[in-house]
Amino acid sequence: MNLTSKAATILDRDAPRDPGKPADLEFARALIKGLGNDPKSIPCRFLYDKRGSELFEQITELPEYYPTRTETAILKAYAEEIREATPTGALLFEFGSGSSTKTEILLSALDRLAGYVAIDISPSALEEATGRLARRFPELAVYPVVGDFSASMKLPGEFASTPKLGFFPGSTIGNLKPGEAVDLLANMREILGTGSRLIIGADLRKDRNILLAAYDDPQGITAAFNLNLLARANRDLNTSFDVSKFEHLATYDSKLGRIDMSLVSKTAQTVRVLGHEIAFAKGERIHTEHSHKYDIEAFRSLAKNAGWTPARVWTDDKALFSVHELRNRA
Ligand code: SAH
Ligand code: AVI
Repeated sequence: MNLTSKAATILDRDAPRDPGKPADLEFARALIKGLGNDPKSIPCRFLYDKRGSELFEQITELPEYYPTRTETAILKAYAEEIREATPTGALLFEFGSGSSTKTEILLSALDRLAGYVAIDISPSALEEATGRLARRFPELAVYPVVGDFSASMKLPGEFASTPKLGFFPGSTIGNLKPGEAVDLLANMREILGTGSRLIIGADLRKDRNILLAAYDDPQGITAAFNLNLLARANRDLNTSFDVSKFEHLATYDSKLGRIDMSLVSKTAQTVRVLGHEIAFAKGERIHTEHSHKYDIEAFRSLAKNAGWTPARVWTDDKALFSVHELRNRA
């Protein structure tokens, strides 16, 4: 089976699919629904079009954005421990793979793999990453899948008895509310099957000033990432957002342990969105992202609720970030 047809069989054929340009249709539906909510909101998965993925990569290099460099250092320090527990010939399955930069640490450490499945909602990020990996690891079978990791998926039958190692770095799990995170972790168990393991990154709770700086950097890259949602709507759906009339806001709720990102209307204004006139009051917010931070025990308990058995946890000296190993026992 060639690469493309194998990747196509990985996605559940029963999942709803739209003809034409599915990404635009899904975005259109989500925008109409979200802007009709009170408070207004847009799901964070739409942050990642080509420009959004580029801006996210710039965020990962910011001095204030500690998660990427901290998790990378943890993975490098413990790659050998991950290798020891991974049978030769395993299938590596990454969710929200983005640039697949951290993946290279595992790919260099792990013994001969059956392949690498990368699922991401951003086609441009996936194309760039899998092209680079194919050049760097020419022996590796790479299966890129453009899609939503929350959807049900089925691996081709030929992988039925292949050991599976799931990989979900970046603390992307934190972008879901805890209940949704449990559902996603349960879906991952289902996809990876009995006997699988999952290596997953989770950002830790910490001083609010460190968090606020990470989500509102002085260079304005995070602001540009957030505002790109409106620019994307104008590009893809011909909406009439005046991006200069909105501003980025990041707040931290220490009780819930989460950052909330919003776009705030600087004036009272009306925006044309797919045949609807959407009114904004001055100061009104569109909620665009949650980013939950977990203590180690709270995250282990979340994983247990999804049916995983928590195993090892690795962290850094400053206790900024955690990487968990979860097992899917028979
Ligand atoms: N894993 C990388 C990227 C994290 S950024 C890292 O650790 O640096 C989050 C990634 O998840 C982006 O590449 C984004 O396109 C992808 N993503 C976000 N929501 C998604 C969804 N619902 N389904 C699939 N991919 C998603
Ligand atoms: C991908 N995700 C885990 C990032 C985060 O930190 O929540 C997205 C992001 N939002 C703003 N900066 C980075």
